[in-house]
Amino acid sequence: MLDFAQLSTRFREMVRDDGLNNALKNIYWVARRKVRSRPIDQFDVLHGTETSREVSLWQLTIPHPDAKLGSHYEATSPELFLKACSFLPPAAVDFSFIDIGCGKGRVLILAKEYGFKKVIGIELSGELLEVTRRNLDKSGVGGVDLEHGSALDYRFPEGPLVVFMFNPFGPPALTQVVENLARHPDFVYLIYINPQHKASLDVRFLALHETVDFGVYQSSQTAMEMA
Ligand SMILES: C[S@@+](CC[C@H](N)C(=O)[O-])C[C@H]1O[C@@H](n2cnc3c(N)ncnc32)[C@H](O)[C@@H]1O
Repeated sequence: MLDFAQLSTRFREMVRDDGLNNALKNIYWVARRKVRSRPIDQFDVLHGTETSREVSLWQLTIPHPDAKLGSHYEATSPELFLKACSFLPPAAVDFSFIDIGCGKGRVLILAKEYGFKKVIGIELSGELLEVTRRNLDKSGVGGVDLEHGSALDYRFPEGPLVVFMFNPFGPPALTQVVENLARHPDFVYLIYINPQHKASLDVRFLALHETVDFGVYQSSQTAMEMA
Protein backbone atom coordinates (compact mmCIF):
# COMPACT_ATOMS: atom_id res chain seq x y z
CA MET A 1 0.00 0.00 0.00
CA LEU A 2 1.35 3.46 -0.89
CA ASP A 3 1.76 5.83 2.04
CA PHE A 4 1.12 9.23 0.42
CA ALA A 5 2.22 11.27 3.44
CA GLN A 6 5.58 9.41 3.45
CA LEU A 7 5.82 9.71 -0.32
CA SER A 8 5.29 13.46 -0.27
CA THR A 9 7.82 13.99 2.56
CA ARG A 10 10.43 11.93 0.69
CA PHE A 11 9.66 13.74 -2.56
CA ARG A 12 10.23 17.13 -0.94
CA GLU A 13 13.52 15.88 0.56
CA MET A 14 14.64 14.56 -2.83
CA VAL A 15 13.81 17.83 -4.59
CA ARG A 16 15.73 19.69 -1.86
CA ASP A 17 18.79 17.38 -2.04
CA ASP A 18 18.92 16.24 -5.69
CA GLY A 19 16.84 18.76 -7.65
CA LEU A 20 13.46 18.35 -9.33
CA ASN A 21 14.81 16.50 -12.36
CA ASN A 22 16.41 13.67 -10.36
CA ALA A 23 13.44 13.49 -7.99
CA LEU A 24 11.09 12.98 -10.93
CA LYS A 25 13.44 10.36 -12.43
CA ASN A 26 13.41 8.44 -9.13
CA ILE A 27 9.60 8.51 -9.00
CA TYR A 28 9.49 7.24 -12.58
CA TRP A 29 11.76 4.26 -11.75
CA VAL A 30 9.77 3.36 -8.64
CA ALA A 31 6.49 3.48 -10.55
CA ARG A 32 8.00 1.35 -13.32
CA ARG A 33 9.25 -1.24 -10.83
CA LYS A 34 5.86 -1.32 -9.08
CA VAL A 35 4.09 -2.02 -12.36
CA ARG A 36 6.61 -4.67 -13.47
CA SER A 37 7.30 -6.45 -10.18
CA ARG A 38 5.31 -9.48 -9.19
CA PRO A 39 4.23 -9.32 -5.53
CA ILE A 40 5.47 -12.77 -4.60
CA ASP A 41 7.56 -15.33 -6.42
CA GLN A 42 8.24 -19.04 -6.15
CA PHE A 43 11.15 -18.59 -3.72
CA ASP A 44 8.86 -16.89 -1.20
CA VAL A 45 6.08 -19.41 -1.69
CA LEU A 46 8.53 -22.26 -0.97
CA HIS A 47 10.23 -20.59 2.01
CA GLY A 48 7.30 -18.73 3.58
CA THR A 49 9.32 -15.51 3.30
CA GLU A 50 8.81 -12.02 1.85
CA THR A 51 11.80 -11.16 -0.31
CA SER A 52 10.21 -10.47 -3.73
CA ARG A 53 8.86 -6.95 -3.27
CA GLU A 54 11.30 -4.26 -4.42
CA VAL A 55 11.96 -1.19 -2.25
CA SER A 56 13.62 2.12 -3.05
CA LEU A 57 16.05 3.38 -0.43
CA TRP A 58 14.19 6.69 -0.21
CA GLN A 59 11.13 4.77 1.01
CA LEU A 60 13.18 3.76 4.05
CA THR A 61 14.58 5.78 6.93
CA ILE A 62 18.36 5.44 6.69
CA PRO A 63 20.26 8.02 8.74
CA HIS A 64 23.65 6.94 7.29
CA PRO A 65 25.08 9.33 4.62
CA ASP A 66 26.05 6.36 2.40
CA ALA A 67 22.33 5.90 1.61
CA LYS A 68 22.89 8.56 -1.08
CA LEU A 69 25.32 6.19 -2.84
CA GLY A 70 23.14 3.06 -2.62
CA SER A 71 20.82 1.37 -5.10
CA HIS A 72 17.29 0.09 -4.43
CA TYR A 73 16.40 -3.29 -2.89
CA GLU A 74 15.72 -6.08 -5.34
CA ALA A 75 16.22 -9.82 -4.82
CA THR A 76 18.58 -12.05 -6.80
CA SER A 77 16.86 -14.88 -8.63
CA PRO A 78 17.76 -18.34 -7.30
CA GLU A 79 18.67 -19.46 -10.83
CA LEU A 80 21.19 -16.65 -11.21
CA PHE A 81 22.65 -17.35 -7.76
CA LEU A 82 23.19 -21.04 -8.61
CA LYS A 83 24.58 -20.26 -12.04
CA ALA A 84 27.12 -17.80 -10.58
CA CYS A 85 28.16 -20.20 -7.80
CA SER A 86 28.81 -22.93 -10.36
CA PHE A 87 31.94 -20.97 -11.42
CA LEU A 88 33.45 -21.19 -7.92
CA PRO A 89 35.76 -24.05 -6.95
CA PRO A 90 33.97 -26.68 -4.79
CA ALA A 91 36.22 -25.82 -1.81
CA ALA A 92 34.70 -22.32 -1.70
CA VAL A 93 31.87 -23.56 0.53
CA ASP A 94 34.46 -23.52 3.33
CA PHE A 95 35.19 -19.81 2.72
CA SER A 96 33.25 -17.04 4.50
CA PHE A 97 30.33 -16.00 2.29
CA ILE A 98 29.48 -12.29 2.62
CA ASP A 99 26.46 -10.62 0.98
CA ILE A 100 27.18 -6.89 0.69
CA GLY A 101 23.76 -5.28 0.92
CA CYS A 102 21.82 -8.38 1.99
CA GLY A 103 18.45 -6.58 1.79
CA LYS A 104 15.70 -8.97 2.90
CA GLY A 105 18.06 -11.93 3.20
CA ARG A 106 17.19 -14.08 0.20
CA VAL A 107 20.82 -14.65 -0.81
CA LEU A 108 21.75 -15.55 2.78
CA ILE A 109 19.15 -18.34 2.71
CA LEU A 110 20.34 -19.49 -0.72
CA ALA A 111 23.98 -19.49 0.47
CA LYS A 112 23.15 -21.65 3.49
CA GLU A 113 21.17 -24.04 1.30
CA TYR A 114 24.09 -24.17 -1.14
CA GLY A 115 26.34 -25.38 1.67
CA PHE A 116 28.36 -22.31 2.69
CA LYS A 117 29.26 -22.86 6.33
CA LYS A 118 29.90 -19.27 7.41
CA VAL A 119 27.39 -16.77 6.01
CA ILE A 120 27.38 -13.03 6.78
CA GLY A 121 24.98 -10.31 5.62
CA ILE A 122 25.74 -6.57 5.75
CA GLU A 123 22.89 -4.12 5.28
CA LEU A 124 22.64 -0.34 5.53
CA SER A 125 18.91 -0.28 6.26
CA GLY A 126 17.78 -1.34 9.73
CA GLU A 127 14.25 -1.85 8.38
CA LEU A 128 15.44 -4.29 5.69
CA LEU A 129 17.62 -6.07 8.24
CA GLU A 130 14.53 -6.61 10.42
CA VAL A 131 12.81 -8.20 7.41
CA THR A 132 15.90 -10.42 6.97
CA ARG A 133 15.64 -11.56 10.60
CA ARG A 134 11.98 -12.47 10.12
CA ASN A 135 12.74 -14.27 6.85
CA LEU A 136 15.54 -16.31 8.42
CA ASP A 137 13.17 -17.28 11.24
CA LYS A 138 10.36 -18.19 8.86
CA SER A 139 12.59 -20.28 6.61
CA GLY A 140 14.20 -22.05 9.58
CA VAL A 141 17.69 -21.04 8.42
CA GLY A 142 20.06 -20.35 11.31
CA GLY A 143 23.73 -19.60 11.84
CA VAL A 144 23.80 -16.40 9.76
CA ASP A 145 25.66 -13.34 11.11
CA LEU A 146 24.04 -9.98 10.39
CA GLU A 147 25.84 -6.63 10.43
CA HIS A 148 23.92 -3.36 10.41
CA GLY A 149 25.93 -0.59 8.74
CA SER A 150 27.63 0.51 5.57
CA ALA A 151 29.77 -1.91 3.59
CA LEU A 152 32.22 0.98 3.22
CA ASP A 153 33.00 0.82 6.95
CA TYR A 154 33.04 -2.98 7.12
CA ARG A 155 36.20 -4.84 8.12
CA PHE A 156 36.26 -8.12 6.24
CA PRO A 157 36.95 -11.19 8.41
CA GLU A 158 40.22 -13.08 8.19
CA GLY A 159 40.51 -16.09 5.91
CA PRO A 160 39.34 -16.79 2.34
CA LEU A 161 36.16 -15.04 1.18
CA VAL A 162 33.33 -15.31 -1.31
CA VAL A 163 31.91 -11.80 -1.59
CA PHE A 164 28.49 -11.42 -3.19
CA MET A 165 27.07 -8.15 -4.51
CA PHE A 166 23.89 -7.44 -6.42
CA ASN A 167 24.79 -3.99 -7.65
CA PRO A 168 24.44 -2.37 -4.20
CA PHE A 169 26.05 0.96 -5.18
CA GLY A 170 27.83 2.92 -7.88
CA PRO A 171 31.51 3.67 -8.57
CA PRO A 172 32.54 5.92 -5.66
CA ALA A 173 31.40 3.38 -3.05
CA LEU A 174 32.32 0.33 -5.12
CA THR A 175 35.87 1.58 -5.64
CA GLN A 176 36.37 1.87 -1.89
CA VAL A 177 35.05 -1.64 -1.22
CA VAL A 178 37.19 -3.05 -4.05
CA GLU A 179 40.27 -1.36 -2.55
CA ASN A 180 39.52 -2.92 0.85
CA LEU A 181 39.06 -6.33 -0.74
CA ALA A 182 42.21 -6.05 -2.85
CA ARG A 183 44.19 -5.56 0.37
CA HIS A 184 42.70 -8.73 1.88
CA PRO A 185 45.63 -11.09 2.52
CA ASP A 186 43.71 -14.27 1.60
CA PHE A 187 41.74 -15.69 -1.37
CA VAL A 188 38.82 -13.53 -2.51
CA TYR A 189 36.17 -14.57 -5.01
CA LEU A 190 33.67 -11.94 -6.03
CA ILE A 191 30.21 -12.60 -7.48
CA TYR A 192 28.79 -9.44 -9.00
CA ILE A 193 25.15 -9.56 -10.14
CA ASN A 194 24.05 -6.93 -12.67
CA PRO A 195 27.67 -5.75 -12.98
CA GLN A 196 26.89 -2.25 -14.23
CA HIS A 197 30.03 -0.76 -12.72
CA LYS A 198 32.49 -3.57 -13.33
CA ALA A 199 35.05 -1.05 -14.63
CA SER A 200 35.62 -0.18 -10.94
CA LEU A 201 37.08 -3.68 -10.41
CA ASP A 202 39.92 -2.79 -12.85
CA VAL A 203 43.08 -4.90 -12.67
CA ARG A 204 42.53 -5.92 -9.06
CA PHE A 205 39.97 -8.56 -10.02
CA LEU A 206 40.24 -11.00 -12.91
CA ALA A 207 37.12 -12.37 -14.58
CA LEU A 208 36.55 -16.12 -14.37
CA HIS A 209 33.24 -15.75 -16.17
CA GLU A 210 31.23 -12.75 -17.35
CA THR A 211 27.77 -12.30 -18.86
CA VAL A 212 25.49 -9.26 -18.98
CA ASP A 213 23.69 -10.59 -15.88
CA PHE A 214 26.64 -11.44 -13.66
CA GLY A 215 30.40 -11.76 -13.32
CA VAL A 216 32.52 -14.08 -11.18
CA TYR A 217 35.97 -12.71 -10.37
CA GLN A 218 38.98 -13.59 -8.31
CA SER A 219 41.41 -11.12 -6.81
CA SER A 220 44.60 -10.75 -8.83
CA GLN A 221 46.54 -11.65 -5.72
CA THR A 222 44.58 -14.93 -5.45
CA ALA A 223 45.27 -15.66 -9.09
CA MET A 224 49.02 -15.02 -8.64
CA GLU A 225 49.18 -17.35 -5.64
CA MET A 226 47.46 -20.10 -7.61
CA ALA A 227 49.79 -19.71 -10.64
C1 LIG B 1 19.88 -4.88 -5.22
S1 LIG B 1 19.75 -5.10 -3.46
C2 LIG B 1 20.43 -6.75 -3.26
C3 LIG B 1 19.79 -7.56 -2.14
C4 LIG B 1 20.38 -8.96 -1.93
N1 LIG B 1 21.82 -8.93 -1.88
C5 LIG B 1 19.96 -9.90 -3.04
O1 LIG B 1 20.78 -10.08 -3.95
O2 LIG B 1 18.87 -10.46 -3.00
C6 LIG B 1 21.08 -4.02 -2.87
C7 LIG B 1 21.08 -3.82 -1.39
O3 LIG B 1 22.25 -3.09 -1.02
C8 LIG B 1 21.93 -2.30 0.11
N2 LIG B 1 22.96 -1.25 0.25
C9 LIG B 1 23.09 -0.12 -0.48
N3 LIG B 1 24.18 0.59 -0.07
C10 LIG B 1 24.73 -0.11 0.95
C11 LIG B 1 25.87 0.10 1.78
N4 LIG B 1 26.67 1.19 1.65
N5 LIG B 1 26.16 -0.82 2.73
C12 LIG B 1 25.37 -1.92 2.89
N6 LIG B 1 24.28 -2.16 2.14
C13 LIG B 1 23.96 -1.28 1.16
C14 LIG B 1 20.53 -1.80 -0.20
O4 LIG B 1 19.86 -1.35 0.96
C15 LIG B 1 19.90 -3.04 -0.82
O5 LIG B 1 19.25 -3.82 0.15
